[in-house]
Amino acid sequence: MLASLMRTVNCGMIGGGTVGGGVLQALDRNGSLLASRLGARIKIHKVAVRDLNRPRKVEIPKSLLTDNWRAVVEDPKTDIVIELAGGTTTAKTMVLAALRAGKPVITANKALLSAHGQELCAAAAQHNTNLYYEAAVAGGIPVIKALREGFVGNRITHIYGIVNGTCNYILSRMKAEGVNFSDVLAEAQALGYAEAEPSLDVDGYDSQHKVGLLASLAHGFWIGPDAVHVEGIRNVSQLDVQFASALGYTIKLLGIVKKTGAKVQASVYPALIPDSHVLASVSGVFNAVFIRGDIAGDSLFYGQGAGQDATASAVVSDIADAVLDLKSGTPHRIPPFKTHNHKSAVLPVDAAVSKYYLRLSVVDKPGVLAKVAAILAKSRIGISSVIQPEGHEGESVPLILMIHDAKNSAMLNALKAITRLPAIREQPVMFRVENLD
Ligand code: NAP
Ligand code: HSE
Repeated sequence: MLASLMRTVNCGMIGGGTVGGGVLQALDRNGSLLASRLGARIKIHKVAVRDLNRPRKVEIPKSLLTDNWRAVVEDPKTDIVIELAGGTTTAKTMVLAALRAGKPVITANKALLSAHGQELCAAAAQHNTNLYYEAAVAGGIPVIKALREGFVGNRITHIYGIVNGTCNYILSRMKAEGVNFSDVLAEAQALGYAEAEPSLDVDGYDSQHKVGLLASLAHGFWIGPDAVHVEGIRNVSQLDVQFASALGYTIKLLGIVKKTGAKVQASVYPALIPDSHVLASVSGVFNAVFIRGDIAGDSLFYGQGAGQDATASAVVSDIADAVLDLKSGTPHRIPPFKTHNHKSAVLPVDAAVSKYYLRLSVVDKPGVLAKVAAILAKSRIGISSVIQPEGHEGESVPLILMIHDAKNSAMLNALKAITRLPAIREQPVMFRVENLD
């Protein structure tokens, strides 16, 4: 009896691929549980796709399907719009159209938020509705909620995140199985972790988008993608994975948001992290986000960072929030983003300080190390250890240097001079070392 009096909230979904299919499955499985928790029934009443005839892993009833996304947004019965199409151009038009119609929007599209987030958040406020994006960062981990709500009373000083499931899957398999980068990428794609354009994952842009969002929420001013320094994992070779391991480190694609004086470092790069740190054991598609707040201290969030079910779980959590906000008439209780810091700025990467791992390929003859050391000394850069592993006979041998804290600009200048030495046989390889203190 009570159930039949329950309000039904109609959600119109744009996108019926990996994540869209996952949302349908999750609601199928736990729809009644959600209804009893929310006091409202959630119904996906329309799904827009590009190709009505495409065979789908998760079947969508024909009666729900349309190939016209406007039919979803403009349907007066649609209470909430869920954008799971991806991309930044048409997706922006879709989201703006829904917000302008006063409809709450849920999106998992971090590329879109990164490129146009400020405009979309402003549109949500202007049209007295909301924009929800839990699924945009770290898959099933509720880290957006944690930053905006759980840590609302903290000044956030550090965030270290492994936020791209595809890269973490690739790097973990490289370390565990000795395989090469390109062998594993195709598998990550088949498992539904990778973006339609794999460069977004492996060149670090997906992490850049996510780190920009985390940094903006943590520091209260909008940090767009151009302000987040990015390097991807294409240059991580099996050789470096092995040397790092012998030195007691694991290579991870790491997102860093660090308060440095009055500024904020926001970067993404492959870094050596100590095996003894908990982030080093985050393997496969798992993500983890370490957050340090001045009151809460250190917290670690760990979970599946990509894939159908984990991402669907985050979308469903947003659906629940949107339903509760609709029910209580409080669309702006938690705005998607609020500027509260007008004084800070992003630290230019040149000024960021870290330790380094340097692998040189050198002619094995006396005096080479002295020349390299002299260049570093001239830039006041200290060497903490040197290893020339045995068993690499031939024309050239690897020389590994671990470098003390140095400014990025000083290190790059020294590296240019080292590269010009006649004894250097290949382009040097340099990764930062983060001790995560
Ligand atoms: P996907 O499998 O490629 O699915 C995209 C869906 O959108 C497809 O159903 C496609 O239709 C539909 N679509 C694309 N353009 C459309 C248009 N103009 N009109 C109507 N429908 C359109 O992608 P996905 O992996 O589900 O990712 C969707 C979004 O979630 C992306 O923003 C992605 O970054 C984000 N995300 C993905 C994951 C993940 O693990 N996969 C995790 C977090 C966030 P057809 O099926 O007919 O082609
Ligand atoms: N391609 C993304 C990843 C999906 O691998 O993490 C989740 O955002």
